[in-house]
Amino acid sequence: MDHAGLNWKNLLTLALAVGATAFAIARAPADDEAIFPMPAGKTYLNECGSCHTAFAPGLLPARSWRKMLAGLTDHFGEDASLDEPQRLAILKDLETLAADTPQANLRMRRINGAIPGNAAPQRITESGYFKFMHDEVPRHIWQRKKIGTPGNCLACHTRANEGRYGEREVRIPQ
Ligand code: HEC
Ligand code: HEC
Repeated sequence: MDHAGLNWKNLLTLALAVGATAFAIARAPADDEAIFPMPAGKTYLNECGSCHTAFAPGLLPARSWRKMLAGLTDHFGEDASLDEPQRLAILKDLETLAADTPQANLRMRRINGAIPGNAAPQRITESGYFKFMHDEVPRHIWQRKKIGTPGNCLACHTRANEGRYGEREVRIPQ
């Protein structure tokens, strides 16, 4: 009766293996979903989401945000200045949720890991991470009217203003 297949030991091993796999599958998305924390309240969305997508702070390290918020009067050629209390409040939110904070999730760590420690990039769209994530989007798509610029995350990532960039929430406009 000692077949290789179906004694209780094998069954138990099998059950444990299936269980472990199911557990791993259930956990993977939670750890690795493309979801970034966003500042609480409406200030960030209103002030930094009025001209473009309210970019998730976790897409750049804190030093990038510090540099950017020190030069808002000439922000990519535009005046995006804020009154001082608002500027400080937004800076604090950005620093708290930036890619290089201790509580950064896996995505944020990866983004930060790809940026040299002495660089404070001002563009998300020029990062290696961004290019890598979008290398399957053909050039002609970026040029569609409803997209205009790669920085227009919200054109394709319908919930970008909530920090959600998951595959299921991508809709490329025609
Ligand atoms: C008055 C309009 C305006 C406001 C307000 C504004 N921005 Fe911008 N922002 C721009 C323009 C214009 C660009 C350049 C867009 C381009 O070239 O694609 C830009 C680009 C950016 C980029 C780079 C995007 C990329 O290509 O990777 C970041 C990051 C950014 N802004 C963050 C912020 C933050 C943070 C705030 C709030 C403090 C803010 N912006 C407020 C106009 C604005
Ligand atoms: C032309 C449409 C388009 C624009 C604009 C765009 N993306 Fe994407 N993005 C995509 C597509 C398509 C994918 C691949 C979907 C997938 O397989 O997850 C993707 C993937 C991603 C991913 C990885 C998602 C995952 O599940 O791993 C992130 C993060 C991301 N984009 C961030 C951004 C940010 C930030 C911006 C703006 C600065 C942006 N994207 C602009 C189309 C776009």
